[in-house]
Amino acid sequence: MSKKIILGIESSCDDTSAAVISDGYILSNIVSNQKVHQQFGGVVPELASRAHQQNIIPVVDTAIKNAGVNKEDLSAICFTQGPGLLGSLLVGSSFAKSFALGMNIPIIAVNHMQGHIMAHFIKEKGNEIKSPKFPFLCLTVSGGHTQIVLVKSFEDMTVIGETLDDAAGEAFDKSAKILGLPYPGGPLIDKFGKHGNKHKFIFGKHKVGELNFSYSGIKTSILRVIEKGIEENDNFIENNIEDLCASIQHTIVDILIKKIMKASKEKGINQIAIAGGVSANSYLRTRLLELKEKYNKEVYIPKFEYCTDNAAMIAISGYYKFLDNNFSNQSITPKSRLYL
Ligand code: KG4
Ligand code: ZN
Repeated sequence: MSKKIILGIESSCDDTSAAVISDGYILSNIVSNQKVHQQFGGVVPELASRAHQQNIIPVVDTAIKNAGVNKEDLSAICFTQGPGLLGSLLVGSSFAKSFALGMNIPIIAVNHMQGHIMAHFIKEKGNEIKSPKFPFLCLTVSGGHTQIVLVKSFEDMTVIGETLDDAAGEAFDKSAKILGLPYPGGPLIDKFGKHGNKHKFIFGKHKVGELNFSYSGIKTSILRVIEKGIEENDNFIENNIEDLCASIQHTIVDILIKKIMKASKEKGINQIAIAGGVSANSYLRTRLLELKEKYNKEVYIPKFEYCTDNAAMIAISGYYKFLDNNFSNQSITPKSRLYL
């Protein structure tokens, strides 16, 4: 049987990415980050779609070249249909559709959030990873989403808890902004927090029921602590940056861990995975490994490069859809809101 070689394209937010996967094995994964947003303290949608337009051809070209294949070898092209910024999604989806039409091969639309979860199934030659077995729970934490997903198969994914307001990544980024750190602040809070005392500052947690989350109150709580601190010392933030970051990180992550443990108990499922940009957070990864040590949970943590937005996760999702003959029509359109 001939190899299934899949090109994946991801352009939902501010990263232009293309990847090639052959029979489930990664051949290339190119991610081009857009630096243009840093000066604005957040992603500017119009600038993001313009940058995608500039990046898409070189990124796809490099992904195909680095994979060591020719475009004629491709079996299908898959792309992120949503959720995400409409202008950004339009660039990736239009490119994928026209490229596939030109090559006379099928297209496959992929849900970005499903892609994050599917990152656990990317195989690497010479580095066999252990993928979760079904059913498992996945804590999907990114800049736009915070969800607990019950994953029964590649196609059967149900959200059983989610944030009612801000996402965990948003809470990281907004907290970082208050501290005067550039966008995206999540990785910087992680970096500074490594050396700080996580119990130095106590920030209020907004309690919501069931398996849901609420992160919008944390900003106000941080602001209060900082205002009070600055009253006493003008250099309060600079002098306490490590402890502030460690405490903020602890507040955000603690809620995630408590809720995933609650879900595990309620559903009687001991296999826990994390996915999405925030799963790159080192403190979250440490806390998750503790669940393995203390409570005998089986935990699955993706490689760093497959945590934040990347096209390898879109290509692997497309590969399984391909095996299922789950193709899309050329009339398909991107959707800024798309549910699992
Ligand atoms: O999944 P992703 O790349 O894009 C979305 O789909 O949103 O997630 C981006 C989010 C940002 O909020 C970023 O600050 C956060 O993931 N993030 C982190 C870390 N790396 C990325 N948050 C905390 N610690 C990190 N190491
Ligand atoms: Zn994402």
